[in-house]
Amino acid sequence: MKRSTLAALSLAIATTLGAGLAAADPIVIKFAHVVAENTPKGLMADRFKELVAERLGDKVVVEVYPNSQLFGDDKVLEVMQLGDVQLAAPALSKFSRYTDVLALYDLPFLFEDLHAVDRFQQSEAGQGLLKSMEKKGLIGLGYLHNGMKQLSSSQPLRVPEDAKGLKFRIMASEVLEAQFEALDAAPIKKPFSEVFTLLQTKAIDGQENTWSNMYSKKFFEVQPYITESNHGLLDYLVVTSTEFWNGLPDDVRDTLKAALDESIAYGNRIAYDKEAEDRQAIIDSKRTEVIELTPEERAQWVQAMRPVWKQFEDEIGADLIDAAYAANQE
Ligand code: SIN
Repeated sequence: MKRSTLAALSLAIATTLGAGLAAADPIVIKFAHVVAENTPKGLMADRFKELVAERLGDKVVVEVYPNSQLFGDDKVLEVMQLGDVQLAAPALSKFSRYTDVLALYDLPFLFEDLHAVDRFQQSEAGQGLLKSMEKKGLIGLGYLHNGMKQLSSSQPLRVPEDAKGLKFRIMASEVLEAQFEALDAAPIKKPFSEVFTLLQTKAIDGQENTWSNMYSKKFFEVQPYITESNHGLLDYLVVTSTEFWNGLPDDVRDTLKAALDESIAYGNRIAYDKEAEDRQAIIDSKRTEVIELTPEERAQWVQAMRPVWKQFEDEIGADLIDAAYAANQE
C-alpha cells in the first residue's frame, strides 16, 4: 500500500475513533418553580443543582428557573409532558387535572402541624399517593414542605363571618374553592405570579398562604391584616415525567434520586425554621397586624370549613382522609 493511502486510512480510523470517544452531550434537567430563591423550595432546588454538579459532573446539568421565569404553575405540568421541563415542585393543590386523591392535602384543618404532615407522608398511604399520576405520565419523587397557610386580608378576620363577600385568590383547586364558598366569600383562581399585583391594586381583598411566601413575595406590605389561622397546608410534590425518568440510565437515575432525597430533607428542615423566622420578620416589619385567634374563634373557623371534607369524601376516599387525620396522634 502506498504511504499516502496508509496515512489517509490512519486519519480516517483516528477520526472515527475520536468521534466515538468524545464526551456525550450532558443530560439537561430544567427545574422550573414559581417562588423566590430564599424559600424552602428555592433553596432545595439550588442544593439539588449543587449535589448533581458534585456527583455527576459533566454527565448531568441542572438549570434552576425560580420566580415563574420559565413557566408558571398553570403551565408547568403540561410542558413537562412535552419534555420542555424535567423537574418541578408545584403545590399539591395544583394537580387536580391529573388526579383526585391529592386534593386530600387541601382539606381545611386536616393536619395540626408539619409534624403530623410528616407522619402521614412517610406512611404507606402517603407514599402511595406519589404514584397516583403514573398513568397520566407524571411521577412524584418526594414531598417537600412549605408550611401551614394563614389568611391575609384588607379587613381584620377574627370569625368566619368577617370573610363574607370578600374576594380571595386561591390556587387552582376545587377544595379551596369550596372552602371559601363555605365562608360565603368569593374564591378566584389565579397564578402565584399575579397575587402581589392583585392585592396591591385591590382587585382582590385577600389570599391564603404561608409565612414564607407572604414574606418573600412581600404580600404583607399590601395586606393590613394576617390571621394566624393555620387552617391548611401548602406542601409540594417534586414531580417529573415518567418518560424522562424511566429513560435515564439506571446509575444516573439512582444518583439523581439520592441527591433529590438529600435536597428535599434539607428543604424540609428549612421549612420548619422559616415558619417561625418569616412569621417574626413580618411581625417585626410592623407593616401588617398579625391576628392571633382565641380557641373559641378558631373553633368557629373549624366549624365553618370542616363540612368541605364531606363534599370531597367520595373523590378522595374516606379511608385516606381517616388515615391522614389519624397522623395528628403521635
Ligand atoms: C408555591 O409556593 O409554589 C406557590 C403557592 C401559591 O400558588 O400560592
